Amino acid sequence: MSAEPSVITIDGPAASGKSSIARLVAERLGRIYVNTGNMYRAMTWAVLEAGVDPKDTDAVRAAAAGIVIESSVVDGKTKVAISGRTPTDAELNSDPVNRAVSLIARVDEVRDRLVADQRALASIGPLVMEGRDIGSVVFPDSPHKIYVDASEEVRASRRGAQGLSDQIAERDRIDKQRKNSPLVIPAGAIVIDNSHITLDQAVDQVIAGLQLS
Ligand code: CDP
Ligand code: CDP
Repeated sequence: MSAEPSVITIDGPAASGKSSIARLVAERLGRIYVNTGNMYRAMTWAVLEAGVDPKDTDAVRAAAAGIVIESSVVDGKTKVAISGRTPTDAELNSDPVNRAVSLIARVDEVRDRLVADQRALASIGPLVMEGRDIGSVVFPDSPHKIYVDASEEVRASRRGAQGLSDQIAERDRIDKQRKNSPLVIPAGAIVIDNSHITLDQAVDQVIAGLQLS
């Protein structure tokens, strides 16, 4: 019998609190936190650096095929190296990347590569992995699935408070409507709306809901 990877999956829309909640859940449970959004952001950064129009799917596909991308976890942070260079947090969260990332993330070849890398990370230890399709596509057999939500107003204001300009409604629209691995509430997921609760309360709800033995 093959050992099942142990992954707590956390999905949800933009700025819903996924990263903060996933990081704290991982800390409390002694697990490794993985941020898959950083992988799509790094690929997007590299495609933009190559001067490619993110709307031109054929050009994105061709550029992506030539990009060497390696994901690892270093000191609790998901590190993504592009041909040996690691884009900074400011580069990964820049306006151009925010505007383009959902266009890059809907391309099949990009998703196939990153999903394979995400599954491979399960070999490094028990994970808390967050993104858009982790419970639905990357680890659909996980018994521990969470979907984090918050109202659009709350999400926009939290992102604004971080000093970042981000068209979250437009990203959500593309992420929910794409054909390949759209953002959905995965079957069997516990839904936590954290519009009006603190991060600590959200983490308590996640841990209580998971009923880990
Ligand atoms: O942190 P935030 O919610 O703003 O976004 P993110 O998690 O960094 O993800 C950025 C973008 O990457 C999303 O809007 C999706 O287009 C894409 N993404 C995805 O398609 N699948 C994932 N598992 C993670 C991110
Ligand atoms: O990863 P995602 O884009 O879903 O969200 P995040 O970056 O974890 O959260 C966006 C911002 O909302 C951060 O500054 C969090 O500290 C804040 N937040 C909050 O104040 N209260 C919550 N219950 C959840 C998130």
